[in-house]
Amino acid sequence: MRHLLTLFDLYADDVRTILGTSRHLKQLLQQGQRPSVLAGHTMGLLFEKPSLRTRVSFEAGMNQLGGGSLFLGDDVGWGKRESPADFTRVLGQFLDVVICRAKSHQKVTELARYNAVHVINGLTDLSHPCQALADILTVGEVFSSDGMFDVNVLPGRHLVFVGDGNNVARSLALISGILEIRFTLACPPGYEIDQPWMDRIQQTYPHAQLAQVHDPVEAVRDADVIYTDVWTSMGQEAEQAERRKVFAPYQVNAALLAAAPPRACVLHCLPAVRGEEITAEVIDGTQSRIIQQAGNRMHSQKGLLTWLLAPEWVQQNVRT
Ligand code: CP
Ligand code: NVA
Repeated sequence: MRHLLTLFDLYADDVRTILGTSRHLKQLLQQGQRPSVLAGHTMGLLFEKPSLRTRVSFEAGMNQLGGGSLFLGDDVGWGKRESPADFTRVLGQFLDVVICRAKSHQKVTELARYNAVHVINGLTDLSHPCQALADILTVGEVFSSDGMFDVNVLPGRHLVFVGDGNNVARSLALISGILEIRFTLACPPGYEIDQPWMDRIQQTYPHAQLAQVHDPVEAVRDADVIYTDVWTSMGQEAEQAERRKVFAPYQVNAALLAAAPPRACVLHCLPAVRGEEITAEVIDGTQSRIIQQAGNRMHSQKGLLTWLLAPEWVQQNVRT
């Protein structure tokens, strides 16, 4: 079994192959082609937190690939009706792959432990690997000459995440290390990405260029990408009032964009709190690629599912 719990589960070449496959499938779709690469395969979506993008993009993508999907909500009793061992081994009798969104990362790790079915993390408190794949697909499109993803435009780019050192920031720091993108987190003191995670990236990818700073204006001076996410993630609602105060100087707004080069694009994983971490003006502005980025959730996950379940098709059809 191959699991994707964090991007540490992939080799750099896997990431490049997934992104190349995503590009290929996106191009085919634009030409009106939806190859049934995964006909007869079934994906389960096991979610214990709300979702628009992750759920709909996985389901729509699997449909386009000729496979089927099942949404598994509360009623299947994950963690409630039976042991994780029984639960996951039974799922493995029916499904080819499970996408999990859980409150704690440990719960997804536990599901994968029995190797009964491929497990893909659809967001935990620790990481959001599928989001990072879509984000980098977007960056590789934004800076390419023809709007199609080009992996060669990535090395040396500067991605600046302004906000909380959360699940999304961690995943972006890691994928940046993998693909030789410079990564800077600009956050309030005390909200950095934990040092063990940063150290692990640096050890695994010695060329990684990672920084954590507290001045957002300085950080964006040579940014190619300005990225933000909510100040209060799912599960942190009790801290919301405090976070609103602490993060106030870190809003992505017109003044911050004015400090960045005009080429800088703005990304946000969504859902956004307009007027909090980002202004409506910036979300809807000319430098924003946020809707393209959301659309790329589907394209990158089609690449991921195909890489995982139909590797021979990828070998025969995708130039990476
Ligand atoms: N970005 C993201 O994961 O969105 P959802 O929470 O709607 O899935
Ligand atoms: N950091 C956010 C991302 C939502 C897609 C959260 O975990 O709620």
